[in-house]
Amino acid sequence: MSTHTLGAAMPATSPGRLLTLPPTLPQHTPAGVVGNTPMLWIGEPFCDTRQGFWAKLEGHNPGGIKDRTALYMVERARERGRLAPGAAIVESTSGTLGLGLALAGITHGHPVRLVTDPGMEPLMARLLAAHGAEVHTVTEPHPTGGWQQARRDRVAELLADDPAAFCPDQYNNPDNVAAYGPLAHELIAQVGRIDVLVVAVGTGGHSAGVARVLRTFCPHLRVIGVDTTGSTIFGQPAGTRIMRGLGSSIHPRNVDYGAFDEVHWVDPAQAVATCRVLASSHYATGGWSVGAVATVARWLSRTRPATERIVAVFPDGPHRYFDTVFNDDYCGEHGVLGRAPLDEPDEIGDTRDRTVTRWTRCARVVDPRAFAASAEEARR
Ligand SMILES: Cc1ncc(COP(=O)(O)O)c(C=O)c1O
Repeated sequence: MSTHTLGAAMPATSPGRLLTLPPTLPQHTPAGVVGNTPMLWIGEPFCDTRQGFWAKLEGHNPGGIKDRTALYMVERARERGRLAPGAAIVESTSGTLGLGLALAGITHGHPVRLVTDPGMEPLMARLLAAHGAEVHTVTEPHPTGGWQQARRDRVAELLADDPAAFCPDQYNNPDNVAAYGPLAHELIAQVGRIDVLVVAVGTGGHSAGVARVLRTFCPHLRVIGVDTTGSTIFGQPAGTRIMRGLGSSIHPRNVDYGAFDEVHWVDPAQAVATCRVLASSHYATGGWSVGAVATVARWLSRTRPATERIVAVFPDGPHRYFDTVFNDDYCGEHGVLGRAPLDEPDEIGDTRDRTVTRWTRCARVVDPRAFAASAEEARR
């Protein structure tokens, strides 16, 4: 361990001056400040009297929750020789993973190429570029797979142009699940027993990774998945989506359907209303996924037994959302402004019952790929 002392040019004896600098340790590097994020109690006035839930504030990571998985996927790829020193990292991202990959690129010396679509906030594109990433924006959605498939096709082109490049493939890479073991351990250390976990689902990485490890400590744990209306992950048909981060127009392999006891689809007006109440009442803000997760956690705090401990993961902070969720012009143009948050979801018995357009819950979670396969079999 090295200790740095101040140089001779500094006055040696000024009163109160620190003469010896602390040692530089791995935790003092950009990657070293990832993790160990704080918990916040969200009680009154957002929740009713004597009720509430714990929020894990992943926005306290340099980029957000995805810093954890970006570093993990890159480090495992380097260890396995799949990512050679100095080779490029190429990935499709709506933003948060991009920030994490930029961090991983800086930490381990890799150029980072990110593929996104026009829905990415201009601020996010500037943040990524400021942190050294090259941003490629696709201009047309794929006819059936939407923007997500269009981004994946562009990634394939970039990889074909540079055979040494590595694609973490966050939708299918099991390291994107394994990366979240430490988050689960932090929750246990911070809260102890956990009865209900509320998590947003995009690639499925953090819900699968946290639930898997938490259940080894709390086998009775209930896991509530939170998706957006218009997302296909839990078997709904693809629809227009303006919420970024959670939701998908494909079926990511990393989603662990068996892990969920219940799923909620939250609409963007509900997420906006919730984010704004949360921001003004608790200074705890994020964007679409935080609004959606907080909507569901608040409802659970009223409907689950008062003895149960509820934890919600807030994946990122507010900054990228000031031109969307917190911008009246944007919200007005998209018809998601001015509604008070609803207190109760609608309910369906099966995702195939109907297409949901507002906050709805379903206590039966199925892998839509399984029923697509059985429908195909029945047709033959
Ligand atoms: C802000 C935000 N919320 C939620 C999610 C969903 O997380 P996961 O991909 O682990 O399912 C993401 C993923 O990118 C995200 O960026």
